[in-house]
Amino acid sequence: MAIADSASSFSLRPLHHNLFSPKYRSVCHNSLFRSPPHFSSLQFPSNIRATSLVAVEPESSTQPQEDTMEVDLFACPVCYEPLIRKGPSGFNLPAIYRSGFKCRKCTKSYSSKNIYLDLTVTAGTKAYTEIKPARTELFRSPLVSFLYERGWRQNFNLSGFPGPDEEFKMAQEYFKPAEGGVLIDVSCGSGLFSRKFAKSGTYSRVVALDFSENMLRQCYDFIKNDDTIITSNLALVRADVSRLPFSSCSVDAIHAGAALHCWPFPSNAVAEINRILRSGGVFVGTTFLRYSPSAPAILGPFRQQRIAGDYNNLNEEEIEDLCTSCGLINYTSKVQQSFIMFSAQKP
Ligand SMILES: C[S@@+](CC[C@H](N)C(=O)[O-])C[C@H]1O[C@@H](n2cnc3c(N)ncnc32)[C@H](O)[C@@H]1O
Repeated sequence: MAIADSASSFSLRPLHHNLFSPKYRSVCHNSLFRSPPHFSSLQFPSNIRATSLVAVEPESSTQPQEDTMEVDLFACPVCYEPLIRKGPSGFNLPAIYRSGFKCRKCTKSYSSKNIYLDLTVTAGTKAYTEIKPARTELFRSPLVSFLYERGWRQNFNLSGFPGPDEEFKMAQEYFKPAEGGVLIDVSCGSGLFSRKFAKSGTYSRVVALDFSENMLRQCYDFIKNDDTIITSNLALVRADVSRLPFSSCSVDAIHAGAALHCWPFPSNAVAEINRILRSGGVFVGTTFLRYSPSAPAILGPFRQQRIAGDYNNLNEEEIEDLCTSCGLINYTSKVQQSFIMFSAQKP
């Protein structure tokens, strides 16, 4: 397992212009070598251009050299082939920001856009755009993303959510069999749990993954002044939960806080989660139940109805059925009003 590199041990060295291919180079000109404000103060001058490239490289001779090509944790969202990474080594935001990723099989290139690595199937499309259901699109809004940790999330307590500190503790209990492994915080929003997972030191790598560009920007804003996280084993990735950019059986733990009800197709998502978990790997999710056992019985029949386009609120039985029909085992759950935390394992 790769452990995070310390930013303080990096030095600046020239980087070859000739990376993967001419196609890759054009991507680099657009995005790879622009430094976000925090990185520039941390590691390189702000006036770097493609003609005077530098890469950040560990000084220690035991570390992999700059410009290395290695098979990465990330896989191509088109064909699931592990991506080849070229650039500075290390699993942390500055190193990933400066790296280029390419699929050998379908030759598609991926790079960091702003501060996150874009691993959606539509990354790099010029004319085509895709609109998801409202429950996904809502969270792409800059305003909702900004408000999310500034009041929106706190309202969940009214429905029985115990709050991030307690939910994190509960999840960590379920994740015991995955300690030391790779954790993906799927639909991380502005990263309130990703930060806790990264800071806990429990995992070798943590990926904060969301479909919303603005949530990922918020994520970065919350961590940009915290060097212990910036240089830790954390990556910010844009991806669709229905098309997770990881190889099969490569991940130890998957967390999805308050997310299942927002997914366009929960069955595709849970099938993907099962695909990427290794044997024994753990999935922990929370969501709003459609029917709360504590709600007055008279409300039951009304709360059972599901409306197309609305949130995908499931009931307990449906969540268990979904997990088991996607091949997960050892299902268990805790319920408080409309809040449910559930866990299941890959056989
Ligand atoms: C209610 S927020 C949850 C944020 C955080 N995990 C928490 O516990 O508060 C739901 C998140 O799901 C994300 N989401 C919705 N559809 C998605 C999709 N298709 N793929 C990945 N994430 C998605 C949204 O962008 C949003 O950030």
